[in-house]
Amino acid sequence: MKSAISEFNEIKDSSKIDEFIKKIFYTSINFIEPDAYKKLKEKIIGLRTNNKIEGNTIFYLSTPPSLFKTIPQNLAAIDLNKQDDGWKRVIIEKPFGYDIESAIILKDALLKDWKEEQIFRIDHYLGKETVQNLLVTRFSNGIFEPLWNRNYIHHIEITSAENNGVEKRGGYYDDSGALRDMVQNHLLQIVGLTAMEPPSSLEPIAIRNEILKVFQSFRPLKIEDVKHNTIRGQYISSHIKGQAVKGYREEAGVNPESQTETYAALKFYIDNWRWGDVPFYIRTGKRLPTRVTEIVIHFKSTPHFLFSQDDACRSCNQLVIRIQPDEGILLHFGMKTPGTGFDVQNVNMDFHYSDLTNLRIPSAYERLLHDTMKGDSTLFARTEEVLEAWKFLKPVIESWKNDNAIPLFGYPAGTWGPENADELIEEHNMTWRYPCKNLSDDGVYCEL
Ligand code: BG6
Repeated sequence: MKSAISEFNEIKDSSKIDEFIKKIFYTSINFIEPDAYKKLKEKIIGLRTNNKIEGNTIFYLSTPPSLFKTIPQNLAAIDLNKQDDGWKRVIIEKPFGYDIESAIILKDALLKDWKEEQIFRIDHYLGKETVQNLLVTRFSNGIFEPLWNRNYIHHIEITSAENNGVEKRGGYYDDSGALRDMVQNHLLQIVGLTAMEPPSSLEPIAIRNEILKVFQSFRPLKIEDVKHNTIRGQYISSHIKGQAVKGYREEAGVNPESQTETYAALKFYIDNWRWGDVPFYIRTGKRLPTRVTEIVIHFKSTPHFLFSQDDACRSCNQLVIRIQPDEGILLHFGMKTPGTGFDVQNVNMDFHYSDLTNLRIPSAYERLLHDTMKGDSTLFARTEEVLEAWKFLKPVIESWKNDNAIPLFGYPAGTWGPENADELIEEHNMTWRYPCKNLSDDGVYCEL
């Protein structure tokens, strides 16, 4: 994987942008009408002939997921998948299926007409610079990797919080929910990169194989685990900074009796040599107090503590990888408070991407579209990963749907989700990094 930053400098020459805009065309067709695709084919051939360009084509399905089977099938029916005159690639965005069964049906349908290397499944979290930086942090530094295992890590916490509600996507979201919308894809991909073994090379296949092995090592969740180690919630109306905010069931497109979760938290394990018995806690939610995505590596405390048991730094070593916003990395450790005695206080070493001047961080989509053009599938989800992720979550999906004894907690919009989620992590006398007492002045990140 090459550095994306250098390839994504801002275009300052507006004539280039004008020139590009002149080459954008729009044509509308009825997606479910196979004959309509002839019009699209004619348009594509016409553009190619007029502009004297090769047949390389990307079909980017920015459409409802229900069309992910139909459109590629119809494209293939008129040979728009054939690569004799240049490559043909199709991009689909998550959700890839609705559960394991539908994901298999979608996979089979796509692979009937398209080769795996022609299919690019966007999980835009993988396109985020800071997510990719996980590989560099882990595998280019001699200091972290030796500690990156069950001997030194107590638990790992991943939070992806949003302060937005469902906006105008109530219709889609109500059929999906936090588990399908965020956990099955974005959060599990982050887990994959955090937990994977060093790849043998930077080839897409090498990296994706290691992520797949992590997914294959998830300890299967039993019904009891779902009861005790998963929490779901739905936001209810409230006031945020004096403004009335609707509850989820009042949002446009949402069933007024909806049982869809807008918050999900899970505790689980990865059964392999590196991670045996290290708990992973992941959570995501809408209408939480702030927007933040971060990974927190909580290291074990020292075997014997020389200093007062009351000191703040009994087991405070944390490496916080801030995915967004305020992208960066923070190392949290104990230091002697100046003066007499040996009081320990917590301090941070804090790196912010924004401190790197002259660098523009490309958006995830810029990076992923560019990679599709290059045919580099490293940062895209592969079929097997998608299926393993669905397989892992199947017991949660089924129990949440069928077992009324598993509560759907209401949480007021603008709070940190159901309080019960704290109990998931509190067993070790610890808590999630957020809610934190010391939110930075801009409300963006938590100062420990
Ligand atoms: C999308 C989800 O994939 O990711 C949305 O469908 C969510 O519901 C979004 O809001 C979050 O992305 P980001 O990049 O803003 O964290």
